[in-house]
Amino acid sequence: MSPEFLILHSQHSTLVLECPPDEAPLWRYWGPRLPDGSTPGPALRGTRPLPSFMLDFDQPLTVLPTFGVGWFGQSALLAHRVGLDFAQAITECQVEWSVPGSAVVLHLLDAVAQLRFDVSLALDVASDVLTMHTRLTNLGDASIDVQWLAAGTLPLPGDAATVRSYAGQHNHEFLLQTDTLSRSQWRRENRRGRTSHDCFPGAVVTTPGSTADSGLVFGAHLAWSGNHQQTIEWLHDGQYQWQMGEWLAPGEGRLAPGASLQTPEIVASCSTQGLNGLAANFHAALRARMAWPGGSMRPRPVHLNTWEAFYFDLVPADVMALADAAASVGVERFVLDDGWFHRRHHDRAGLGDWWPDSDKFPQGLGPLVQHVNSLGMEFGLWVEPEMLNPDSDLHRQHPDWALQIAGRPLITARNQLVLDISRPEAADYLFEKIDALLAAHPIRYLKWDLNRDLTTAALAGGLGSAGYRAQVLAIYALLARLRAAHPEVEIESCSGGGGRIDFGVLRHTHRVWASDCIDALSRVQIQQGFGQFFPPEILGSHIGTAPAHTTGRSQSLAFRAAVAMTGHLGVELDVRHLDESTRSALTAWISRYKNWRNQLHHGRVWRGEAADGLVWQAHGDSDDLLLFVYRCQPTSHRYTPPLRLPMLDPQARYQVEQLVPIAADGAVQSPAPFFDQLQAGGVELHGAWLAQAGLPMPRATAETCFIVRLLRVG
Ligand code: DGJ
Repeated sequence: MSPEFLILHSQHSTLVLECPPDEAPLWRYWGPRLPDGSTPGPALRGTRPLPSFMLDFDQPLTVLPTFGVGWFGQSALLAHRVGLDFAQAITECQVEWSVPGSAVVLHLLDAVAQLRFDVSLALDVASDVLTMHTRLTNLGDASIDVQWLAAGTLPLPGDAATVRSYAGQHNHEFLLQTDTLSRSQWRRENRRGRTSHDCFPGAVVTTPGSTADSGLVFGAHLAWSGNHQQTIEWLHDGQYQWQMGEWLAPGEGRLAPGASLQTPEIVASCSTQGLNGLAANFHAALRARMAWPGGSMRPRPVHLNTWEAFYFDLVPADVMALADAAASVGVERFVLDDGWFHRRHHDRAGLGDWWPDSDKFPQGLGPLVQHVNSLGMEFGLWVEPEMLNPDSDLHRQHPDWALQIAGRPLITARNQLVLDISRPEAADYLFEKIDALLAAHPIRYLKWDLNRDLTTAALAGGLGSAGYRAQVLAIYALLARLRAAHPEVEIESCSGGGGRIDFGVLRHTHRVWASDCIDALSRVQIQQGFGQFFPPEILGSHIGTAPAHTTGRSQSLAFRAAVAMTGHLGVELDVRHLDESTRSALTAWISRYKNWRNQLHHGRVWRGEAADGLVWQAHGDSDDLLLFVYRCQPTSHRYTPPLRLPMLDPQARYQVEQLVPIAADGAVQSPAPFFDQLQAGGVELHGAWLAQAGLPMPRATAETCFIVRLLRVG
């Protein structure tokens, strides 16, 4: 019987699988779009002479490569039944289309090991994003211990050259790390129990010659907020396999007879338009799956967050005065950060006791919320529900609710323990407390924090079995329950800054806090990395104070604002104490954001680094583009090289206008007639010229931003 081919097309990519009835489906192609009707070419298997002393058959890459077929690469499954059934092999394959032509479930059976796999693949036509996940069911009579189950295995071409992933730590998220692919395995693992600051669950693979805007690149991300592993491995047929999945702690993958293990989803894509084309695909996919309170087009309101103004020292009169000052500069949502709840005077007490501190707020939060609302602002509130301090009423009442291993010391971080929210009474407790706050007050936003890694995360009250996976599933369930009860509330995922940013948590949340570092220079780098996978409108991005609390560096208000502006803008400084000129400059920046946010948040984004210390971002489309060019380093050129803008239509003409004087905060710009004209109404330039020769760049001091609009006029 001839094998069945599965061909899935999106706008710009194609996936081809060959499905013999008694094997796992073979990867025949994943890459740029093939024309309709192009039939798969001959398989490599059987077309080559076999070298001696090899297996007597070639084993090609499948969607589920396993030990039992003679696979020498990493198996998609590592599991055993008390030492048996360790080498699995698919004996039967059935194909079920869930959406004809674009989504399919592959039902695979290993009749010997008594295992069933349901591998789901869907290729989204509009975004070119492939999603893939796997479900394993134990059909045997005895438990099976799963050590590793890949959410999916993807093929990468043999000329794949580098892998770009993200490292970092608290205050330094999204640090780009570029590794050369070779015959050594590339692998990254996260065992921190949350997405983590230092090991982002995703990467981009480049091919030779690819750039920010051209050439073939591949990207994949695991939509999961816990432990993870990703591996890229060279194969003997010259291509690579790329596996991603959840890193399971010992015992977490034990499946009783009849039980199933569902992996998180891999979100993957390829683009022939380089890194920016790939980013656009991920942005489109995320935008399509997010549910915004008020609809996706609702303008993202300007925040003021109280954290860096007060830390824990909340005095209601001061908080109200800050709200007055915030409203006067144009803030639209006032967010009360940490320090508001029972005995939370520092980070050593209070977590778990989610009611207002009666010393600070003797009449509860009502008067403050009403005050904020009366100023025309929405009210938002910080919470950290998954945590508890040993010094809290909750912990005193329920010491057994913390994740812990009996007989071992409780390990604290930031003086806190982790609540076992997979325990229904703990989840119910949190739901009731947060639900009560949301029901009592018109709270429109929650900043949902998580300030520690998980250690000794054994399920509370049990026999000590690992609870990392259960914790992630429980937090998703709790968020979903709260969202269902309060659909008008927007939720931000914060985790000591950017420790929980992924497509999994973004099923339930709407904004992320990318870093506690709001030093604008650091943020340029953080936002560049962030933008590879996530669109700008979900990026919490605040104008901080100078010097920045986390780095001690000072930047002009213009630079701080221009950097924060491209995300979801907020202010995180004590606006009560600004001098008049700073106050009016801040008001002007907030008003610019309000004018531009529609374009900043709903268009495409191109990002790049140019010669001479410039980092840039362009938002919009080829009809109307907002360009931000950040000078991060002092110039080393007498004339800065022009910036090429390849996204523009070479046939069109553009009115180019500088929107804000670069010298707003004292930066020096060399006088030149061209830049005078740019500021005084603009200059008309040809798209082909701007794309190939480039837009002249001004000479300016370091830590300044050049903001330009390019509008098609013909
Ligand atoms: C960590 C967050 O990232 C900060 O923004 C702030 O909310 C603190 N937690 C409060 O404890």
